[in-house]
Amino acid sequence: MPDIHRLDTGLDRGEAFEFLADGVSVRAFAGETIAAALLAHGRRTLRLTAKAGAPRGYYCGMGVCWDCAMWVEGEGTVQACRTPATPGMKVSTLQGAKA
Ligand code: FES
Repeated sequence: MPDIHRLDTGLDRGEAFEFLADGVSVRAFAGETIAAALLAHGRRTLRLTAKAGAPRGYYCGMGVCWDCAMWVEGEGTVQACRTPATPGMKVSTLQGAKA
């Protein structure tokens, strides 16, 4: 999927790279968080609730609500709104506490 929600003019971005989110390649730029890159990619759901599997995503954007919780290989559960995307990282959707 293209970066349908990313502004392409008037910005000086860092270096572009890719990471995997649930096996899908996502483009990011140096300095972007996981959540920012996924939003630009058009993805809104970052986790699913434990019992109902209801979608949750970027909400407070400042590390308070945990609705952006995702699992990162080698790190565990992180807040996607506060965790920088890095080249080659592997990110997975959580359902409850499980990836
Ligand atoms: S969006 Fe609320 S903690 Fe990340």
